[in-house]
Amino acid sequence: MFTLKVALFVGIVAVCAAHMCMLSPAQRGSLVGFNKVGAADCYLKTGPCGGRPKSENYVTLKAMQNLTVVLQKNLDHYSTTDPGQFTISFGATEGSGMKMLGMIPDTSEQSLSLYAMNVTIPSVSSGQYVLQSVYITNNPKTLLFYECADIMIM
Ligand SMILES: *[C@@H]1O[C@H](CO)[C@@H](O)[C@H](O)[C@H]1NC(C)=O
Ligand SMILES: *[C@@H]1O[C@H](CO)[C@@H](O)[C@H](O)[C@H]1NC(C)=O
Repeated sequence: MFTLKVALFVGIVAVCAAHMCMLSPAQRGSLVGFNKVGAADCYLKTGPCGGRPKSENYVTLKAMQNLTVVLQKNLDHYSTTDPGQFTISFGATEGSGMKMLGMIPDTSEQSLSLYAMNVTIPSVSSGQYVLQSVYITNNPKTLLFYECADIMIM
């Protein structure tokens, strides 16, 4: 009986972990099943890019361009006391040194809701860059979910 309770508890914790996908620009690697709550492709917890390697699948953009980034809160983790947020960052390499381009607070919108944010690509020279989105949830404690897109600046 004790083991059963532990198993149930662990199961509930796993289900409660939030999820986030980046729909546009499309995230690295696969992006499937996201119309259902709790999709595996929206559950990447390893920073800075969800543990997914750099791809050759570039999204081509221009320096100084305005871009609407569309994220999906695949599994809601909102808390009224400590709402959390979504951030968008950009850099020549993933990880430290990326510049934050924008941030929007999490809201009480239900799972599968979309969050759109306008950002401006910095004035950078042409080449390869990474755009990173992070869902920072504070419920029940700080948990981070990562997605990256590979960008080619013309
Ligand atoms: C990008 O957005 C900024 C802020 O909204 C605006 O001032 C600027 O004119 C826009 N740039 C282009 C190229 O549309
Ligand atoms: C993004 O910018 C466009 C053009 O200025 C505007 O129409 C749109 O409402 C903005 N979207 C968001 C999510 O702020």
